[in-house]
Amino acid sequence: MGGVFNFKSVFLFCLIVLGIQAAGAADLANGEKLHTDKCVACHAQKAVFGEPDIFYLKKDRKVNDFNGVKRMVSLCNTELRLDLFPEDEQDIALFLNTRYYRFK
Ligand code: HEC
Repeated sequence: MGGVFNFKSVFLFCLIVLGIQAAGAADLANGEKLHTDKCVACHAQKAVFGEPDIFYLKKDRKVNDFNGVKRMVSLCNTELRLDLFPEDEQDIALFLNTRYYRFK
């Protein structure tokens, strides 16, 4: 008995992996919700054809890497006084990158 691959350590390992995935999913969901609440309406107004998705995918977009996404989310947040917490900004940046930008 004992050893690294006994039942208990495998079980604990699975718990950790599941925990990490659950946290990631929560962040994405939070980002999507905040984005829908706070960001889409204005972007839809500014976007050609009123299509907010195109806004992030247009050829002359300002953002060219994941840091750029974070910077832009932060800028829109402070400039427009949306009162988001830093964690919320991160969640939104993660959501935008996962759904649209897809930077590594
Ligand atoms: C009151 C209007 C308004 C609101 C609200 C707003 N934005 Fe923006 N956002 C803009 C405008 C206008 C631009 C284009 C700026 C430019 O191209 O110089 C922009 C650009 C961006 C871009 C860059 C798009 C690209 O790739 O070129 C990102 C990312 C972004 N906003 C994120 C957000 C997020 C996240 C929120 C919500 C937390 C938000 N914005 C809320 C007006 C808004």
